[in-house]
Amino acid sequence: MSTGSGPHALPLALVALVSCTAPPEAVPTRPGGPLPGLTAAQLSRFQTGRELFMRVWGVEDGLGPVYNENTCNACHSSPGPGGGGVETDEKVTTFTPAGGCDLLTDRGGANVRQQATPPAAALGVSRESGPAGTRGYFTPPVLYGRGLIEAIPDDVLLSLEDPEDQDADGVSGRVGRDASGRVGRFLRKASVATLRDAAAGSLTVELGLTTPLSPREQVYVEGGYPPGADPVPEPEIGAEVADAIADYMRLLAPPAPDPPDDPQELAQAAAGREAFAEIGCGTCHVPVLVTGSHEVQALSRKPVALYSDLLLHDMGPELADICGPAATPSELRTEVLMGLSTRTRFMHDGRSPTLWDAIERHAGEAATSRDAFRALPELRRHALIRFLETL
Ligand code: HEC
Ligand code: HEC
Repeated sequence: MSTGSGPHALPLALVALVSCTAPPEAVPTRPGGPLPGLTAAQLSRFQTGRELFMRVWGVEDGLGPVYNENTCNACHSSPGPGGGGVETDEKVTTFTPAGGCDLLTDRGGANVRQQATPPAAALGVSRESGPAGTRGYFTPPVLYGRGLIEAIPDDVLLSLEDPEDQDADGVSGRVGRDASGRVGRFLRKASVATLRDAAAGSLTVELGLTTPLSPREQVYVEGGYPPGADPVPEPEIGAEVADAIADYMRLLAPPAPDPPDDPQELAQAAAGREAFAEIGCGTCHVPVLVTGSHEVQALSRKPVALYSDLLLHDMGPELADICGPAATPSELRTEVLMGLSTRTRFMHDGRSPTLWDAIERHAGEAATSRDAFRALPELRRHALIRFLETL
């Protein structure tokens, strides 16, 4: 592989200039492929992690005793491995303004597992019904480009915060935090800081596989599970499984933007992009953030067209359901719009069948922007939707 030569080589000074102003490079891959420019060792890491991501786990590996699915790929599979899905996770928490958020982890919250393994079922352990509390239903997001999102420095997110709304634009926004106080950016409550934590957490919560990073089975049965319900001793799998899966997700390329071929439609999408900025959608859905320096060259100092500030915003009572370690029930992380064209249902609960409906359900801090959308002439509203369809 040669760099800097061939028909597309540019003089160095021009390359420097272009890299400051050019939009993020279009990535020439199908959804689910690796980032461009990986080394052979990184590609092999990607492949190992991908196999573990797609692996179907059994009781003999430690699956369960209660779990949602036996493979990551059951939920993150549309339009292919590493994608999203429409089947929702059921979650339950309780929240009081004085006491804050209770994730109910010792009583079968926050994630209510929908299946029990055969040995557990034989001993009377059934799927969870979940404790009393407020329920929420969450769709699996696409995982494409998550390594780029992880590589955006915390300082960038902190610099976008405006908790007291000092610029008086009606939009505040604050960083999420994980249970140990680190800046969070993954999951809709921005409660997870790294892909390693997300991998370990998902293995335990979704599959019932404990790891040295997440060594405790989440028990909901009074007094613990009966012996034999979950025969493999904790931790059931090694940390290297979580690490390999994290590397796979880290190296997944973002889907290439899909601009229309038809020149008229292309002009319409460009007009839509302008309207998006003009009516304040981009205040939260920040079009581009830049990664910090990273040991993986393909993740280092790259622009990421994520269309999110990764901050929590109060979206009003209609979207409110469960709380998070640092999020109230009505606070949600600005949804990443990168990969939007691969989605078929919208908003965290997947209840919006169209982009129009998703915009209509914006309230709270996003009410002004939503009202400005409603006030746009019809042609511009259509243009904005056409623009969203290219992401
Ligand atoms: C039963 C379905 C299901 C299974 C199985 C599942 N997930 Fe998920 N995943 C979800 C849902 C639902 C969310 C969103 C939860 C939220 O926003 O709070 C999610 C979110 C994530 C995120 C955060 C993405 C982001 O941008 O915020 C990552 C990373 C992730 N899952 C990785 C995994 C891995 C790795 C596995 C396998 C070990 C896995 N998931 C198994 C349903 C699932
Ligand atoms: C105050 C911040 C804020 C503003 C302003 C805002 N959004 Fe959002 N947007 C969010 C949040 C938070 C979510 C996630 C809501 C959820 O998951 O239920 C979201 C979700 C979305 C989604 C759904 C994506 C998906 O995959 O489910 C779309 C589409 C969207 N916004 C477009 C827009 C457009 C267009 C505008 C301008 C009219 C806009 N947003 C203004 C915060 C904002």
